[in-house]
Amino acid sequence: MFIDTHCHLEDENFSADRAEVLKRAKAAGVERIINFGSTLQSSIAVTELTTIPELYAGVGIHPEEIDEFDATTCDKLAALAAAEKVVAIGEIGLDYHWEKDSARRLLQQKIFIEQLDLARQLKLPVCVHDRDAHADTLKILQSEARDLRGVLHCYSGSLETAREVFKLGWLIGVDGPLTFKNSAKLPEVVKFAPQDMILIETDAPYLAPVPHRGKRNEPAYVVEVAKKLAEIRNETLEEVAEYTAANAARLYGIF
Ligand code: NI
Repeated sequence: MFIDTHCHLEDENFSADRAEVLKRAKAAGVERIINFGSTLQSSIAVTELTTIPELYAGVGIHPEEIDEFDATTCDKLAALAAAEKVVAIGEIGLDYHWEKDSARRLLQQKIFIEQLDLARQLKLPVCVHDRDAHADTLKILQSEARDLRGVLHCYSGSLETAREVFKLGWLIGVDGPLTFKNSAKLPEVVKFAPQDMILIETDAPYLAPVPHRGKRNEPAYVVEVAKKLAEIRNETLEEVAEYTAANAARLYGIF
């Protein structure tokens, strides 16, 4: 069985055919899917979707959505997280790709740290978004998250950074870009990564893997990521399925 550990099935791209998408996931062996909120509204939506047996949720405010974050936000996220199938805080983190203003970047850091505190209070693991902010993300994890568990989702950093992430006991999430021709450092990173430190994910509807690149992504395609991992790491697809599902079950407490 496969677990798609990071997805956005609440997205309007799936409104017309969500049931079909879930059927295809099941047929492909994807038996659990974790959807992550980026805003309060999408956090509510992913929580509501957990009435579907195979769906779990994470709640949080994405770094590109921090304008809506206020003094009441953490309480609202905590109320959502009280639901049994809300298994994580996320996705939270830093995104410097679009944000070039240093004051705004500091605000992202502050809100990231507040939500790490929330995860600590709620004793939940964390799903972190880090785009073009590897150094600051690592620094914050090292200073603020030593006692927390989590994953750097859609990992795009260097092998050197990955080694530091593993030292903290944190995992990396691997997505469609592993299958791209320009996957840069990622193959080297996943070749080195210990088996118990890797999760597979789609980030659907974004980042569809080859041979679906450029189209809408969906959980069934997580198998393409697993196939590529097996090829690079010289493992069988069954092995990859087994240890990545075990890692996800252990991190998020889903069995
Ligand atoms: Ni995402």
